[in-house]
Amino acid sequence: MPFDRDRFVADCVASLDEDDPQAAIQDHLARAVSEHAAVLAELGEPASAGLDVLVASPRLTMFAAKWAPNMTLSPHNHEMWALIGLYSGREDNIFWKRTAQGLRAGGASALFPGDVASLPRDVIHSVNNPLPRFTAGLHIYGGDFFDTQRSLWDAETLTEQPSNGEIVRAIFEAENAKLQRR
Ligand SMILES: [Fe+2]
Repeated sequence: MPFDRDRFVADCVASLDEDDPQAAIQDHLARAVSEHAAVLAELGEPASAGLDVLVASPRLTMFAAKWAPNMTLSPHNHEMWALIGLYSGREDNIFWKRTAQGLRAGGASALFPGDVASLPRDVIHSVNNPLPRFTAGLHIYGGDFFDTQRSLWDAETLTEQPSNGEIVRAIFEAENAKLQRR
């Protein structure tokens, strides 16, 4: 069955008033990426890094995240629930915990096309595309991703720094500049 971007967005928006919107939207996302080739056909083979925004609103943000070959995003939080559904490539996650000694790695998951990850509000994760080609996933957040202050930890020192949607966008843009220099 073809993937209909507008229909998918409408289904997710309609689930916002359910008792557990994250679980309801996870069902839509799992159904969509179970036919990941159809999602890729509709959203397009990724050719640059970036966030292709489907919805940006106070209660819901949805975008296709396109990861450059071998791109890494250092540990960060969201301050809202999140869902990731992969439709091309591979996305590796390391999960981190705050401890008295600072941030410590505590778990991992490798997402392949068709896989969905459900992340709680307080998650801290870092993301890596281990492939020498683009990875793409549908990312859904239970809030305004682009207008929420959060944290990003330095990859080397694990020092906590302020972050927001614009800083994340700039990180993806910097990957494109790197690609052009290759
Ligand atoms: Fe994230």
